[in-house]
Formats: sequence, C-alpha cells, structure tokens
Amino acid sequence: MSYPPLGNITPQQFLAEYWQKKPLLIRQAVTQFDWLPSLGDLTDLACQDDVESRLVEVKAGKWSCESGPFRPSRFKKLGNADWTVLVQNMNHHVPFCAELLYRFDFIPHVRLDDLMISWAPAGGGVGPHFDSYDVFLLQVGGKKRWRISSQTDLALVPDSPLKVLQRFEPEQEWVLEHGDMLYLPPKYAHEGVSLEEGMTWSVGFRAPTAQELGGAFLDYLRDHIELDGMYRDPDLAATSNPARLPDDFVARVQTMLQGIQWDKDTVADFVGRYFSEPKSHVFYDSPQDDLDEAAFARQLAKHGVMLDLKTVMLFDDAHIYINGDTLDADPACHGQLRQLANERRLPAGQYSAALLDALFDCYECGYLHPGSTAA
Ligand code: SIN
Ligand code: CO
Repeated sequence: MSYPPLGNITPQQFLAEYWQKKPLLIRQAVTQFDWLPSLGDLTDLACQDDVESRLVEVKAGKWSCESGPFRPSRFKKLGNADWTVLVQNMNHHVPFCAELLYRFDFIPHVRLDDLMISWAPAGGGVGPHFDSYDVFLLQVGGKKRWRISSQTDLALVPDSPLKVLQRFEPEQEWVLEHGDMLYLPPKYAHEGVSLEEGMTWSVGFRAPTAQELGGAFLDYLRDHIELDGMYRDPDLAATSNPARLPDDFVARVQTMLQGIQWDKDTVADFVGRYFSEPKSHVFYDSPQDDLDEAAFARQLAKHGVMLDLKTVMLFDDAHIYINGDTLDADPACHGQLRQLANERRLPAGQYSAALLDALFDCYECGYLHPGSTAA
C-alpha cells in the first residue's frame, strides 16, 4: 500500500495549511526508489516521437529551448554545465513513475497531471520563473539550490524563448538533497540551480483556465446537441431595403439558438469525457497477446487486471469514463469499475460476465492489460 509522501504531515493538514496557499519543504519525503534512470535512459526517451521533451540551455545569459523528439547526436554536443533535459509524462512510460505519481492521489485524479523528470549537470537550471500550477519538486540524486519568492511582480523577460522572470527577488533558499521535496503553490516565483549533477522529479497538476473550459464545452455541445426545426417566415413582407438584415430575422435566429440548453448532467458528462481524454501525443497499442474473451477471463482469474499506464479512468455517481468516452457497462459492475478507477488495478478472482464484457472491450482498445505489474 502506498502512502502520501508528505513526511509527518497528513494529507488533511497539507490541504488545509499549504495547498494553493504557501510553500512547504519536506526533507526525505521519498527515500526508496525502485527505478533510477541514467542520463542515457532519459535522452533515449527524448528521442522518441510519442514522448514530450525539451532541452534548455543558457549561454552568456541567453536562454534557448528546443523541443523533442531529438536526434541522439544532439546530446553529444552538450557541454559540462548550463543545460537541462526535461522529459514530460514519465508516468506513461515507467511503472515506478506512475506509482509515485499516484501516491499523490489524496488529490483527485482529475487534478493530477504528470510526473516530469529533468536532468541537469552542476550549473544547470531553467532560470527564475513561475508555474501556473501547483508543483512538488523532488530531488533525486545530486543537489540543487532552490530559491523562492512570494513576489507579485511576475513580468517576464521579453522575447525570450523561455518564461524567465525579469526581476527575481528571492526570499528563502534551501539546498535539496536526494529524497527532499519542495511544494510550491501556483504562481510562486522560483529558481533551481544544480550544485551537483542530478534530477528533479516534478509532480504537476492540472487546472484549466475558464477560456480553455469554455472552448472545450462549446466543442462538446457541437458534437452532442441535436436541434430541431429550420428557419421559416411564412409571414415575410416585401422590402425596399433588401440588403438590410431584418430585425425579425435576428429575433427568429435568437429563438432557434435558445434550443441550445444544458444542465448539470450535461456538464457532468462533458467533465467526465473531457478530463479523461488522452493527451495529444498518446496512443494505445492493441494487445500483442490478442487473447479471446475466454482466455482473457482465465488470465484475470489468475492475475487480475491493471490499467495501461496511459489510461485515464474517472467516474461519477452514474457513469464510468475512460480515455475520453463513457464505458457502457451493466450498473451492477460499476462498484468494481470504480475500484479499478481508484486503484488502477483489480485483484485476481472470478469476475462476473458483465464485468468481463466491459473489461474485454477496454482490453481490445489497449486501455488495460491482464496482470498485476505493468509491462
Ligand atoms: C526543473 O526541473 O529544473 C524545473 C522544474 C520547475 O522549476 O518547475
Ligand atoms: Co517551475
């Protein structure tokens, strides 16, 4: 059973006193690592098409930022200092990274974004900046000096490829060593500079802007709404001003558009679908073992089932959502599907026919796999 990596603080205390309010340093928050990458492991990932990555460099005070995928030769040209390689969504690629991300699941899954790993030699960093989201910064190997500030002046250096603060006025500073973790609320200014080669594992959160939500909801409505009727004007009067838009025309269009209506159930369905949608670079592979339903059932009886690392599964009182869609399943098995969504796995055992049907559909899409450990 995993535990929240908050030191001596309970999730309740953390949420009440720190979350979205003030920074918190936790020494030795994570001490056990089942997987530790080499720089080569990270740069190999940064060369793949389905992996989001960046390379940040600073030369004579000028920042540059390149996005992956990279050619392997790009990493041979790096010097001994002043660069950082960052790989996003590590939880999609490495089971231990997913396990670590979900240790933060005292916060709802819909708010969790990803685990990013950055690697920097001594001197490396991404400059003083702020993030729009909450972040936990976990030091893994090496040492990094973090300076932070509650400043409200968040003006950025103009025309820089990287969001770098024009004026950074640090108020507090710490050196983080292996296993130490710093929590920062959104928009808290910070700068990390590597003192010894090492990594920062960042747990990031998702908080949509009103503009993003509004646009996405309108897209959802366009795809889901069905409006009846067609423009009609049997009472049309002759005009001597034919290019003028008649007031009556506008009024009738307004009435037709009033057919666009939504309620809380519409919003709930939008939220379930939208927030479980895969990120743009995510694709699911169809199963290599290609089991039929009977063989699938035997595997589940022996080994249980687990969600693919890239799968997002959410639920509300009435629906189960998986990777952008509702899962059509007999309500009698919603309890187990909710357990699967919460724990990302179900144990070995005999599953009902209705549950097996729902799970088999997901298996065929590559959303889950038989077994108790991720591939
Ligand atoms: C880093 O990993 O170096 C940067 C992370 C951050 O500042 O958010
Ligand atoms: Co940051």
